[in-house]
Amino acid sequence: MVEILNSLKSHQVLAEEVKVWYKAAPVDRFPIDGGACVKYKDLQIAVFNFDSGKEWYACQNLCPHKMQMILSRGLTGSCGEEPKVACPYHKRTFSLKSGECLNADEERILTFPVKVEANHVYIGFSR
Ligand code: FES
Repeated sequence: MVEILNSLKSHQVLAEEVKVWYKAAPVDRFPIDGGACVKYKDLQIAVFNFDSGKEWYACQNLCPHKMQMILSRGLTGSCGEEPKVACPYHKRTFSLKSGECLNADEERILTFPVKVEANHVYIGFSR
């Protein structure tokens, strides 16, 4: 499991650092106001369609609490202006902007830039 976390950390990328825009899927493959899992190389990425497609977010699919690949199935919502996802297992809740855990002393998750072009969702990676 340590290898998985270390592998993820090496993929952290800010919007200005994107080198690869991975064409994940057409917009209509993602549930409205929900999430879906996308595979990129050895990573599972949770992609969220917020506000009926007006906002998109992506993060690691791995919940750091019990190392479950589950966050794409989480409950989405917001805390003020902060979009968030709650893990369906034990409700650890993470910001989809910063990756910070909002309700427990838990490791932060990685978030990834997302863009939509020509009706397709793209996720940004550094490699
Ligand atoms: S496995 Fe995600 S909160 Fe426990």
